[in-house]
Amino acid sequence: MTDIEGVDAWEVLDSRGEPTVRVRVETADGAGTFTVPAGASTGAHEAVERRDGGDRYGGRGVRDAVAAVRDELAPVVVGRPATDQRGIDEALVDRDGTESLSRLGANAVLGVSGAVARAAAAATDRPLYEALAPDAGPGSLPLPMVNVLSGGLHAAADLPIQDFLAVPVGADTYPEALETAWAVRRAAGRRIGDGDHPPPVADEGGFVPPVADADAAFDLLVDAVRDAGHDPGSDVAIAVDVAATHFYDPDRERYALPGEALSREAMIDRVAGWIDDHPVRSVEDPLAEDDWRGWERLADRVGDRVQLLGDDLLATNAARLDRAVDAGAANAALIKPNQAGTITRTRRVLERAVDAGWAPVVSARSGETCDSTIADLAVALDAGQIKIGSLARSERLAKYNRLLEIDRRHGGGFAGAAALSPRL
Ligand code: PGA
Ligand code: ZN
Repeated sequence: MTDIEGVDAWEVLDSRGEPTVRVRVETADGAGTFTVPAGASTGAHEAVERRDGGDRYGGRGVRDAVAAVRDELAPVVVGRPATDQRGIDEALVDRDGTESLSRLGANAVLGVSGAVARAAAAATDRPLYEALAPDAGPGSLPLPMVNVLSGGLHAAADLPIQDFLAVPVGADTYPEALETAWAVRRAAGRRIGDGDHPPPVADEGGFVPPVADADAAFDLLVDAVRDAGHDPGSDVAIAVDVAATHFYDPDRERYALPGEALSREAMIDRVAGWIDDHPVRSVEDPLAEDDWRGWERLADRVGDRVQLLGDDLLATNAARLDRAVDAGAANAALIKPNQAGTITRTRRVLERAVDAGWAPVVSARSGETCDSTIADLAVALDAGQIKIGSLARSERLAKYNRLLEIDRRHGGGFAGAAALSPRL
């Protein structure tokens, strides 16, 4: 019997020590637990995360969202078959009654949606990557983009750019990709550390580099690739998450980099320069989340050479994705379940991206737990790429390690460099 018999929720702490929502859904034949992640560099167009305010946990408590699960969402799902993910997700969204899920909180709604998915897998005795897969079955193991250097809102660094990542494009298997990225990360750590003490790590486990300038960070990462015995570009390409929304000043219409205030045109030139000067293969959020004109111009200029990945721009939102596809504003979509608010919405945005010829990249948040659902989701939906953070901190490794388990149990091959947009 897959009918849902009970739903419970409670407050736990995430990898930053911040409160978040954990939900457990029970059926007669199995239960599922899911824990909601949280961003720091959140976009304005994401589904709305509900926080209590007040004094508890500095206002960051989630007791109201937990109460919403118990009091308002549980009655909506109890008695329904856990396997009816789509019907349940629609009912959850209806119960909230707002598009952005701001009434009950996207953290309440996604908590239930994710736990239903896990309960359905348990009740039907299937691994999650099979239970979430379409009729054609699960896909291949995703190419990881691994955070090596961190700045922006994720680190006490002088560097405003958020992530510098290693993409092991020369790897033939997922385990080989991890090993390659690990070697690059270790080499970067040796360049940054003093030999006696480990260098500081940021929210996603990347190192905090002693540089403020993007070109210096690119050079450091490329040197680390070489130190690790790999060829920059052909073995290991570079990805960058500029997270430009978070240093854009909308009043002055300027991008605030150390000692400079760049206009849109100057920022576009700067990003194009990085692509010319370094082996960059993927650029996320190079411009602010509502700078549509800038995105279109940049896409015209470099979209045939590099993956242009929308995170804050798209916010895993179908309407924003459609607009971006129509405008040709990017060529890849970051997929974050808690930006969307339900598993079904997440799946829909991913499938729409694929239909448009764009590459989807399933992504963690900077605030995570050891919940590994996104690893299964990426394989189930054959996303091709995944972005989890660095190869450190258990909330990151839970997902990388889950992919190793899926590789062992399911096989399914490795998406590799062919997953990157555009296909070169
Ligand atoms: P966030 O960062 O979870 O803090 O938003 C991740 C990202 O920007 O990709
Ligand atoms: Zn991002």
